[in-house]
Amino acid sequence: MPATPTETPDDAADGTRLPAYEATLRATHRAFGRELRRAARALPLGPRDTVLDVPCGDGFYSAGLARRLFPQGKVVAADLSDAFLARARRRFARLTRVAPTEFVKADVYRLPFDPAAFDAVWCARSLISLDDPAVALAEVRRVTRPGGVVGVLEDDEYHRVLVNWPVDLELAVQGATAAAARAKYGSATKLAPGRRMLKLFRSAGLTPRGKKTVAADRAAPFPPAVVGFLLRHLRETRDFVAPHLLPEHLAAFDRYADPAAPDGVFRRPDAELTFLTTLFLARR
Ligand SMILES: C[S@@+](CC[C@H](N)C(=O)[O-])C[C@H]1O[C@@H](n2cnc3c(N)ncnc32)[C@H](O)[C@@H]1O
Repeated sequence: MPATPTETPDDAADGTRLPAYEATLRATHRAFGRELRRAARALPLGPRDTVLDVPCGDGFYSAGLARRLFPQGKVVAADLSDAFLARARRRFARLTRVAPTEFVKADVYRLPFDPAAFDAVWCARSLISLDDPAVALAEVRRVTRPGGVVGVLEDDEYHRVLVNWPVDLELAVQGATAAAARAKYGSATKLAPGRRMLKLFRSAGLTPRGKKTVAADRAAPFPPAVVGFLLRHLRETRDFVAPHLLPEHLAAFDRYADPAAPDGVFRRPDAELTFLTTLFLARR
């Protein structure tokens, strides 16, 4: 679901703050980490490459990149948020056999790096947080060397979490999601940056080089990480779409999302979930 401006204290108790969506991001990494890492491994890299991960968030992908580039490559993990950078640093404090990694506070619209400084740039699940993704990608292009690669991992809110709930409920929720997005952002497509990637790459002066969608299939009984993700996902979806759902659809949604309901997603023996995310590749 879209980020909210509300912030929650970071558990470092160091005064820095993380956005409310951080917990959902972490739940997603826990539930689908294997597949998310697989998607990241599709970024073509050489062993001596220098790679920028921006925005790096809590360093989930920077860690994978640094493992791949050990011992000859280098990673720069950049984000505007001190709290996220602190999280990323703490993640790395536990790691061994990773390439040298630098953490840099940086605005993606004005990166503090020389032109063509990187062999590759990785940008995961962040375009929705940015007001002007085309301008951000143009800046990403500036710091990528000619011939270098840009990998953008993006979801599409309408196709991200697929569950085998009733078709009528699915259609009602999709319609309400589009209506809520129009009301909040002025466009239903804001929540589907993946649908605009070709256009965004081209407008940034990058040449699209294909995409790879990764599916994470899970079936009941769901492991605790998937239950944790689903609880958050359904709660956030409900908050977003409820004002745009008919009462009977909202009641059906609540039955489906009720952890105690025998025919709800948490207790149905035939419940299934597929999580989709797509890596979009481009060359400078
Ligand atoms: C949804 S998180 C994704 C983080 C990470 N890529 C991941 O997938 O785990 C979005 C990130 O964008 C960062 N961010 C937002 N605006 C930014 C900006 N203008 N420059 C750099 N980072 C920014 C936030 O601090 C946050 O870490």
